[in-house]
Amino acid sequence: MTRTPVNVTVTGAAGQIGYALLFRIASGHLLGPDVPVKLRLLEIPQAVKAAEGTAMELDDCAFPLLKGIDIFDNPTDGFAGTNVALLVGARPRTAGMERGDLLAANGGIFKPQGEAINAGAADDIKVLVVGNPANTNALIAQQHAPDVPAERFTAMTRLDHNRAVSQLAQKTGAAVTDIAKLTIWGNHSATQYPDIFHAEIAGKNAAETVNDEAWLADTFIPTVAKRGAAIIEARGASSAASAANAAIDHVHTWVNGTAAGDWTSMGVVSDGSYGVPEGLISSFPVVCKDGKWEIVQGLDINEFSRKRIDASVAELAEERDAVRELGLI
Ligand code: NAD
Ligand code: LMR
Repeated sequence: MTRTPVNVTVTGAAGQIGYALLFRIASGHLLGPDVPVKLRLLEIPQAVKAAEGTAMELDDCAFPLLKGIDIFDNPTDGFAGTNVALLVGARPRTAGMERGDLLAANGGIFKPQGEAINAGAADDIKVLVVGNPANTNALIAQQHAPDVPAERFTAMTRLDHNRAVSQLAQKTGAAVTDIAKLTIWGNHSATQYPDIFHAEIAGKNAAETVNDEAWLADTFIPTVAKRGAAIIEARGASSAASAANAAIDHVHTWVNGTAAGDWTSMGVVSDGSYGVPEGLISSFPVVCKDGKWEIVQGLDINEFSRKRIDASVAELAEERDAVRELGLI
């Protein structure tokens, strides 16, 4: 049976994450090895030529699953009929820019994108926001798409999740595949909280196995939370291939499900679980099944975790209040 191609829109397609992402989508890593895709690349007019160059390279790969590439310079056309939207393009912080300036500049991008998704995306649209500040950009887009179920808008904390798995594996000598049930809580920022109290290493509790609260507080948490800045410092540019890889993982897990006995971390609209105010887009432990996510319920949150979750969630609430004051939501 010939399957209908899935339309995938990528914004910021000519950027560095876009370059690392598009070839993996086209080769079947996003949705699966038997799912044909059509790519819709959305860029600002000045970057359309560069996107055309990337499209030429995609053509030159002769990917069996790639059934078409279209390039757009406006969100209305870019999101028309799309099934999966990866919102990567964002306004980076530049010298002298205050946080409010950054939020305002990104509001100018994510408000019209939310409106265009609302107006023209396919009924089964799934949205992943990668562009920073990812959680609040996702909130802005979601608030401007009232006809799309709120749970279809998600923000990426899978890179943080993968970073935490890798750090824990290196500390304990375990294989990354032995690590399960790790959680990133809160914001994709330096306040995020990577939680190993419910994590398992080959079936044993990770925090008990590590048994080193000083390492947890002074090494593990800051290493994971500040990894983005450390990459910028080392590379002179922000993470790109690992961010693209995490975007692939996020959507693949959302569509194809979490493994039995495991969960993942996603920025999703809070229903008030774990004291996170309803409506904020915050990272939680989630399980995915049949193309839907659900927040894992009933975890005991100890004092160590509680204060860190609360701090990151407070930052999300501040960002929400700031964009509200700017009239962006
Ligand atoms: P980049 O500057 O290389 O590329 C961004 C691209 O977005 C550019 O080509 C630009 O022309 C395009 N763009 C800007 N405004 C647009 C709009 N309105 N519509 C469509 N395209 C638009 O940046 P990058 O390295 O690819 O990173 C992209 C974003 O991802 C940044 O905000 C970065 O901070 C963020 N990021 C997030 C994570 C995460 O874990 N959530 C990780 C790494 C990077
Ligand atoms: C990352 O986590 O690598 C990025 O979000 C860092 C950044 O500021 O682009």
